Amino acid sequence: MSLMAMRASQKDFENAMNQVKLLNKDPGNEVKLKLYALYKQATEGPCNTPKPGAFNLISKAKWDAWSALGSLPKETARQNYVDLVSSLSSSSKSSDQVEPGADRKPPGYETLVVTSEDGITKIMLNRPTKKNAMNRQEDYNCGHFIQHWHSLFSVCELQMYHEIMLALEAASKDDSPITVITGNGDYYSSGNDLTNFTDIPSGGVEEKAKNSAILLRNFVGCFIDFPKPLVAVVNGPAVGISVTTLGLFDAVYSTDRATFHTPFSQLGQSPEGCSSYTFPRIMSPSKATEMLIFGKKLTAREACAQGLVTEVFPDSTFQKEVWTRLKTYAKLPPNALRISKEVIRNKEKEKLHAINAEECSVLQERWLSDECMNAVMDFLSRKAKL
Ligand code: COA
Repeated sequence: MSLMAMRASQKDFENAMNQVKLLNKDPGNEVKLKLYALYKQATEGPCNTPKPGAFNLISKAKWDAWSALGSLPKETARQNYVDLVSSLSSSSKSSDQVEPGADRKPPGYETLVVTSEDGITKIMLNRPTKKNAMNRQEDYNCGHFIQHWHSLFSVCELQMYHEIMLALEAASKDDSPITVITGNGDYYSSGNDLTNFTDIPSGGVEEKAKNSAILLRNFVGCFIDFPKPLVAVVNGPAVGISVTTLGLFDAVYSTDRATFHTPFSQLGQSPEGCSSYTFPRIMSPSKATEMLIFGKKLTAREACAQGLVTEVFPDSTFQKEVWTRLKTYAKLPPNALRISKEVIRNKEKEKLHAINAEECSVLQERWLSDECMNAVMDFLSRKAKL
């Protein structure tokens, strides 16, 4: 052990932990794993937890990194941690010097493209290679969301779910009279990213289910409370939560190429997004049952006939027709739009929040069921075999 290694005091270590929170650049997963491992080694000593299962991809990567440090003494790990943070801080500073004195840019989005033009704020889901699945884990950069590095990977639960919440919050306060959600690529969204189920925190699956239920409840709550006209421009197939939340939009325009699918029973899960309430009201109880319980996939025209979709357009003219129409609507007096929405929706808000809470608590149980875990494993192992 070098003399330097002996020298990093507890104070240096604490300073380094604070410095890490101030980094403005994501150093990448490899470095974050190294930081995690050194932190654990410095505070707890050699890896002392059982090896996670192969499907707990994130937990396994963390375990591997920690256990690779073997019997490295705590003091050395502490010094290595301090050195690593110091090198990250200086490289982050040197890139800051490119624009001295310039204000930090507002945070960007990793999984969305958000633009405001012609009175419309467009929130575009942007994981086209994953069919715009809604993720909340560490397979993408965490960028500006780096805050609590020592719970490293739970940090990155701030992905598409959190970004949509942030984008909706910003849109609720901006000048655009209308807000739109749409998808990039051939899908609107394939729903919840099923790999979300593989990131099991140290608190185990119960903690994971509890946190996921809280996240889902907050996420759906943002749609319930959104104060301006919210329009879905459904550019392709929609699955799961991207379908159920449609009942909380004010208008849904769809390409004729889209389909609407809620395979909850197949996945051992149950309805969310207030669909247990909105769908029977929008369609009819038995049509909602076919969709939400039996997992019947609707075409765009069927969804329109049943009231879930406002209007269907031929795919070849979809974008042109929809945006032309929305631009006209966006010229209407913004306060009138907002107030009319309030009058239409406010009576329901309290009820919707109660339904949302109930759906999330049922789902919290479902996520712990064998039916659900087996269905998710089936999906992941099918993918692994391809
Ligand atoms: N969760 C995680 N990954 C997803 C996903 C999801 N919901 N939807 C798509 N992906 C990924 C695929 O794993 C694949 O990743 P890869 O390229 O790394 O292998 C990529 O997106 C493209 O999807 P793929 O399955 O190859 O395209 P497809 O056209 O054959 O099928 C779907 C598209 C959406 C029908 C299919 O991916 C699917 O069934 N996804 C699950 C949908 C679901 O059950 N959502 C939850 C509802 S509650």
